[in-house]
Amino acid sequence: MHYRAVAAVCLALSLGLGVVSTVMGQAKAKEEPKVEPKKEEPKKEDPKKEEPKEAPKPLTSDEYDALMKKIKTAQGKLRANLRNKKGAEAAEAGEELAKLAAEILRYDGDVKEGDNKGQKVRDQKDFKQWAEDLKKAGETVAKHAKAGKWDDADKEKDNIGRTCSNCHDVYDK
Ligand code: HEC
Repeated sequence: MHYRAVAAVCLALSLGLGVVSTVMGQAKAKEEPKVEPKKEEPKKEDPKKEEPKEAPKPLTSDEYDALMKKIKTAQGKLRANLRNKKGAEAAEAGEELAKLAAEILRYDGDVKEGDNKGQKVRDQKDFKQWAEDLKKAGETVAKHAKAGKWDDADKEKDNIGRTCSNCHDVYDK
């Protein structure tokens, strides 16, 4: 009797240990895949970090049109807020224009006529210059609007309009 009782306890213990070790095994098995993706993450991040530094992703025609529409909206916001002498709002629109202007250089379109036909528009010197002019004018108008210099801000607003038409005359065909 006593002997059997000991055997029963041993059996119970070993079953118990079996369960415990199985549970631990499962726990370990659950932990392991958690560790693996952590190790992989830096590998995935590396190329992402490099991309914007080397060459920003070019904009398709649709993406570029969407960018131009945003630029038009920001220009409208700038005009309305300058008219109403709302400095903070006008400055915000100017800064938005400057930010969007930087994106212009991602345009993937080709030059459609002339000596440089077939080359990327974004590689053309005048195109780059007008995009840069728009960026600078956006920053400058924001500065004047913040300072309440309405005449200076108005002049800069006209410069902005000129960058649009200069560039469109040559490349929006
Ligand atoms: C550096 C050149 C450049 C500047 C600066 C520029 N644009 Fe454009 N814009 C283009 C080109 C190129 C196209 C034609 C894109 C195409 O063919 O898909 C265009 C097209 C557009 C369109 C038509 C988009 C559509 O849906 O078809 C609008 C609206 C527009 N621009 C607004 C503006 C406004 C407003 C400004 C100034 C605040 C401006 N652009 C400044 C190059 C420029």
